[in-house]
Amino acid sequence: MRVAVIGSTGYLGEQICNVLSYFPEFEVKTLVANINREKLIQQAQAFRNPSIYLANPEANFRAASDLKESGIRVLKNRDAVKEILLGDSIDGIFFALSGIDWIDLFYDLLNTDKIIWMATKEIIVAGSELWKGERDLSQNKNIIALDSEHNALHQLIQGHNQEHIAKIYLTASGGAFYEWQGDLNEITPEMALSHPNWKMGTKITVDSANLINKGLEVIEANCLFRFPYSQIDVLIQRESVIHALVERKDGFITALLSKPDMKSVILHALKTERTFPWEEYKMDFTQLHQLHFDYPVPDRFQGFYLAVKVGRLGGGYPAFFCGADEACVQAFLSHRIGFNHIPILLEKTLETTIAKPQSVSDVIYIYNQGFKIAKDLIQQRRSLKC
Ligand SMILES: NC(=O)c1ccc[n+]([C@@H]2O[C@H](COP(=O)([O-])OP(=O)(O)OC[C@H]3O[C@@H](n4cnc5c(N)ncnc54)[C@H](OP(=O)(O)O)[C@@H]3O)[C@@H](O)[C@H]2O)c1
Repeated sequence: MRVAVIGSTGYLGEQICNVLSYFPEFEVKTLVANINREKLIQQAQAFRNPSIYLANPEANFRAASDLKESGIRVLKNRDAVKEILLGDSIDGIFFALSGIDWIDLFYDLLNTDKIIWMATKEIIVAGSELWKGERDLSQNKNIIALDSEHNALHQLIQGHNQEHIAKIYLTASGGAFYEWQGDLNEITPEMALSHPNWKMGTKITVDSANLINKGLEVIEANCLFRFPYSQIDVLIQRESVIHALVERKDGFITALLSKPDMKSVILHALKTERTFPWEEYKMDFTQLHQLHFDYPVPDRFQGFYLAVKVGRLGGGYPAFFCGADEACVQAFLSHRIGFNHIPILLEKTLETTIAKPQSVSDVIYIYNQGFKIAKDLIQQRRSLKC
């Protein structure tokens, strides 16, 4: 199978490339990143010269000049990337970038028979209004969820009549501050970036620390499986060993357990007949003395409840919220706002009237509107009570 990876240089993208390197039946034909030219070139060299592209124009220009004499082709622009990824030379695409760039490609791919391995939750959430009718993600057999919780749900739901299911549960570790007793304002970016169980990029790690990530995953579950919000719940599962649970109407509950490691999720998503040569993914039950469960506390995890509310509101709200959250996380990481300001500012941004998107360009416009309004609020925040 001939594949492309968008976001190959990120935490998840690197793990995807690592897993793919064990399976010669997957031929990596194209790699796309944003700005990390050196890592992208290294990856291309390791994969027998796929074509590459960097979304940052200067980085792409420099890569083209670095690779003039090499066998690696640097694609000129977005259109060239889209032409290859939508064309006959690619059978499947991994979306492992952060943000909503390439949502137009995702939209177009939904009308093809290519496999889409999907990790980029921002694209699913922001575009949620579009994933209805002929682009209903729950009806698309070519989409394979790479988020561990959704991949687990997919495995648990498979073969069940959805009418017999009472509830689906996504689990959350609770993040780095679940047991935090101090003032949330004291939390620094460095502290927020140390996730207890998963190693991930900066945006998703901050979103996990305040559980906004889990709220976005609830919206993602609604889009991918079409369960109504009233049937989707979230449980804190401190050890990150149970990734999802499905409760049937007859009272039985099934859960999916595995070590918290994305490589086993990626392997499962490849649907290859072959298995990993690595023993390290086996669960050692003697080390699993206790499993702890809890519900997210509303006054600690306001951002989570806000994200779910946005999902329920639908229309343009999820796209707007994603843009506003991106601006808030950037401001927090550059020490311009405190950790506790993120949900306060997000709530404030939602006072805006937001139109319902009809197209991919509407979604991008609304996302950028959310980003800009949050950015403006951050600049004026001294006059706010936060
Ligand atoms: N990490 C995980 O375990 C995990 C698990 C489930 C889901 N996810 C989801 O997967 C996505 C990536 O997460 P991550 O932790 O890997 O983030 P990350 O480490 O920050 O990586 C982001 C990747 O996206 C690339 N990128 C950014 N903008 C791009 C653009 N415009 N075009 C192409 N590539 C672009 C970056 O390229 P540069 O390196 O060049 O900047 C990098 O390769 C997120 O949506 C996250 O929610 C991650």
